[in-house]
Amino acid sequence: MTNPITKLFNIKYPIIQAGMIWCSGWELASAVSNAGGLGLIGSGSMYSDVLREHIKKCKAATDKPFGVNVPLLYPNIEEHIKIIIEEGVKVVFTSAGNPKTWTKHLKDHGITVVHVVSAVKFAFKCQEAGVDAIVAEGFEAGGHNGREETTTFVLIPQVRKAITLPLIAAGGIGSGSQMAAAFALGADAVQIGSRFVATPESSAHINFKNAVISTNEGDTQLTLKQLTPVRLIKNKFFKEVDEAEKSGASKGTNREIIRACTSKKRNV
Ligand SMILES: Cc1cc2nc3c(=O)[nH]c(=O)nc-3n(C[C@H](O)[C@H](O)[C@H](O)COP(=O)(O)O)c2cc1C
Repeated sequence: MTNPITKLFNIKYPIIQAGMIWCSGWELASAVSNAGGLGLIGSGSMYSDVLREHIKKCKAATDKPFGVNVPLLYPNIEEHIKIIIEEGVKVVFTSAGNPKTWTKHLKDHGITVVHVVSAVKFAFKCQEAGVDAIVAEGFEAGGHNGREETTTFVLIPQVRKAITLPLIAAGGIGSGSQMAAAFALGADAVQIGSRFVATPESSAHINFKNAVISTNEGDTQLTLKQLTPVRLIKNKFFKEVDEAEKSGASKGTNREIIRACTSKKRNV
């Protein structure tokens, strides 16, 4: 199949494996790239030396194109960008921030830049920033999400109408028929996250993989809308942050709850 996205990345199939903190290391990215899609290393949760190691291992594991996802809300972005350039990565997907911040710098170094958006107004910003393609991510998506709650089926046709850049649809896509629906709505490719999380190559913990597999309709919910909206599985952790937010906890308090819960988990 040849279309604007397969041409842009020089890949066989218009399937992007989403960048996902702590789930998408070099093993998943290289496996997807070797299979003809575009694998992305999720750099968000990585220390800089860890990111360099993942890029090196990915280069050794595949001679096909792959990229790095850089969520701009994390610290160490400057260091991450420096490493990406030094290691000769050819594709960067930025998200959760302003596309203007890094696009020019990356493009000046010959890197293809894609930015993730959740609304048409942000797609226009990407166009102004000079990105090469856009991921339009609907409300169904796992991970961080837009505040507007626009669904993939509503978002994709609107973004398609508004801009002419190559368009990648994301959010709630995990099968061939869902891919076909995204293409019918005007997308040139799909970015898939949750479906890849439970694969053997994903670096997610086995308990998380099992939780994702056993999750049914209605078992996830968008929360933390004041701080930074995120879709969570409705478990004990979800209840703690959701109750804190509903009781009017400040941004600082919510951050403390997240820190406390995640460090508790790390200590288990
Ligand atoms: C566990 C998890 C972690 C994620 N981490 C990131 C991330 O680090 N950066 C990012 O841009 N998007 C992240 N996302 C969103 C994905 O890149 C992708 O757009 C989304 O998963 C697509 O929706 P789907 O899960 O319904 O396929 C994450 C998603 C999941 C499920």
